[in-house]
Amino acid sequence: MRIEINIDRLGAEFAELASFSDAAPPAVTRIVFSDVDLQARAWLKERCRSAGLHIREDAVGNTFASWKSDSADAPVGTGSHIDAIPNSGRYDGTVGVLGALEAIRALKQSGFVPKRTIELVLFTSEEPTRFGIGCLGSRLLSGALDHQKASRLSDQQGESLDQVRHTAGFEGPLSSVPLSTGHYAGFIELHIEQGPLLEQANVQAGLVTNIAAPASMRIELEGEGGHAGAVLMPDRRDALAGAAELILAVESLALDTGAIDTVATAGICDVFPGAVNSIPSRVSLGLDIRDTDLSRRDAVVERITEAAKAISSKRSLRFKIEILNADAPAQCDPGILNVLRRSCKDENVTCMDMVSRAYHDSLFMSRITPTAMLFIPCRAGVSHRPDEFASLPDIANGVRVLARALAQLAS
Ligand code: GLV
Ligand code: MN
Ligand code: MN
Repeated sequence: MRIEINIDRLGAEFAELASFSDAAPPAVTRIVFSDVDLQARAWLKERCRSAGLHIREDAVGNTFASWKSDSADAPVGTGSHIDAIPNSGRYDGTVGVLGALEAIRALKQSGFVPKRTIELVLFTSEEPTRFGIGCLGSRLLSGALDHQKASRLSDQQGESLDQVRHTAGFEGPLSSVPLSTGHYAGFIELHIEQGPLLEQANVQAGLVTNIAAPASMRIELEGEGGHAGAVLMPDRRDALAGAAELILAVESLALDTGAIDTVATAGICDVFPGAVNSIPSRVSLGLDIRDTDLSRRDAVVERITEAAKAISSKRSLRFKIEILNADAPAQCDPGILNVLRRSCKDENVTCMDMVSRAYHDSLFMSRITPTAMLFIPCRAGVSHRPDEFASLPDIANGVRVLARALAQLAS
């Protein structure tokens, strides 16, 4: 079987998808269920329909584009996300969506006839930007997030997930979203590496053996506001000064494990009231903590909690600590990894095993189906930035390997 990628069409599709954005190019911002996200979804569904795929959407907006086979055997799944965090780039997630569409088109063109349905999945809100929790769609699909808990999620404007999804046109109960274990025969996600290792090793593809365990926390500190000129230093209960101390503690606690795999980030710091001549009375911090080792990750979360309590007590601040998610790591399926390894060989694509330090919808798909991920290099390992870049030849390598592996699983 010869797999031909239409690289010009694929390049044009990346450019077009990037144009659905709330940021000026080259930056991309596409928050779930924003107007640009809905426009991008409509555009993508049209591309899928013109490739002869059948579309279904669930109550949270996960979108399934199927190349139907005659058999009732469990389908083979592939896909990723198209939502993009503020001020990011055009390849995170989209490589696994446009790449999967191109893989399906290439298989069709090669004359391959699948025994199992091959299904492209567009997951809703892999990014945590709007509802504070990553992998919303795949969490619900896999049953990892209870539908009642999901209904209680709301965005920064106070709009609930139910309100927002209904306005976006996704009706039906969230309880209808989960898929049973075994619904898919297997699942493969193609993605940019988001780190520098493939490029440094001059290797064309990464076979992801495991995905690190992510956790996120929201910590709110409350002190007392006041006039920046009139309140004397000994009398202050400055919430931002406390938050600053806590942010530095988060950095040291991650470094203190001595393990290169422990990472912790304070990516959100909302200050109230946010006026230069007003003492900050309230701060909300968003923290992200990850590790390949679950117990080490949990220990860091625990120490951050203790640090927040100690700093608050020393500075007479009130605090509220919320663990938004604390997920287990995932192991990719050795059988699917072998299929990918063989596909790399057949396509003359060099590969190496690696760990994913970023999380992906595969973290949750692996709970209900044998799952593996295929990484391609991205320039200097840059991601979640406007200058994120993956070359079309590198993307095409990934697409060819993906196509061959899907064909193998669907045969
Ligand atoms: C996904 O975008 C992540 O933050 O790993
Ligand atoms: Mn991302
Ligand atoms: Mn991603």
